[in-house]
Amino acid sequence: MSELPRVVVSVVAGVDGRVALSRGERLLDADADRRWRSGWPGDVEELLEAASSAVEERYRPTVVLEGSGTFVGDDAPAAACDEDDTPAEVLLADYLPKRTPKWFAVVDGRGRVDWSFFGDAQTSLLVLVCESTPLPYLARLRRDGVPYLVAGQARVDLRVALLRLREALGAQCVVSHAGGGLNGALLRAGLVDEVHVVTVPMLVGGLCTPSVADGPPLPVGGTPVRLRTVDVTVGAQGTVWAHYEVIDARG
Ligand SMILES: NC(=O)c1ccc[n+]([C@@H]2O[C@H](COP(=O)([O-])OP(=O)(O)OC[C@H]3O[C@@H](n4cnc5c(N)ncnc54)[C@H](OP(=O)(O)O)[C@@H]3O)[C@@H](O)[C@H]2O)c1
Repeated sequence: MSELPRVVVSVVAGVDGRVALSRGERLLDADADRRWRSGWPGDVEELLEAASSAVEERYRPTVVLEGSGTFVGDDAPAAACDEDDTPAEVLLADYLPKRTPKWFAVVDGRGRVDWSFFGDAQTSLLVLVCESTPLPYLARLRRDGVPYLVAGQARVDLRVALLRLREALGAQCVVSHAGGGLNGALLRAGLVDEVHVVTVPMLVGGLCTPSVADGPPLPVGGTPVRLRTVDVTVGAQGTVWAHYEVIDARG
């Protein structure tokens, strides 16, 4: 079996670990993004740039990972798709009609994101789906020429998805810019190797507001994942870029 790619989680959070304003709003929405950034002092952009350059220089990652929660709300239904008579066995095979230097891979096992932008000459959208993804959605991805990889049955198996990214695309490093749902699932599956958190001196608060790592709580008797602090940089206005390595990765 081939090796997993290195998984680097990179997020911006308030000091309470919240990575968004509330469960009901996504930062992709221009007004929510404006209000989120209204709490940012002037040093945030510089630290974000520094964190991104450090990861880029060290690993030259070819895949950025996102979750469907960045694009649609919790209760969004499957995207509307025309019926299609392509056989299931065809639709449930990986679809890689093109190669690009970089990939924007999105976990969307329920087929909920209604894509209108598919990438550019450098970067292609790629959807990570599973055997229970609605078949008309897979047919639509094919009609639109959007590559996808099938990993898992009832939902996307993240370990298998990472292995497929390595095998099919040669990915050696995947950078997750997701919210807490996907990052929490990666963490619980023991798939995270490195974490960069740019902590902005602001508080969001709120029960269930997305945080750095969400998902199911630790089972009773569970222990936290230990991190080794690699480096901490404090900006001129007190924003903190902290770089950690997971000690117990792949345990
Ligand atoms: N501040 C930041 O740096 C930052 C970055 C990104 C996003 N955000 C914000 O965070 C919010 C979104 O966060 P979120 O937690 O709702 O969404 P999310 O991180 O996208 O989490 C949901 C995703 O995780 C997948 N997932 C969850 N558990 C899984 C498991 N056990 N196995 C496989 N896949 C699993 C879901 O798959 P399915 O789709 O298949 O169900 C879905 O793709 C938005 O408001 C966004 O704007 C902030």
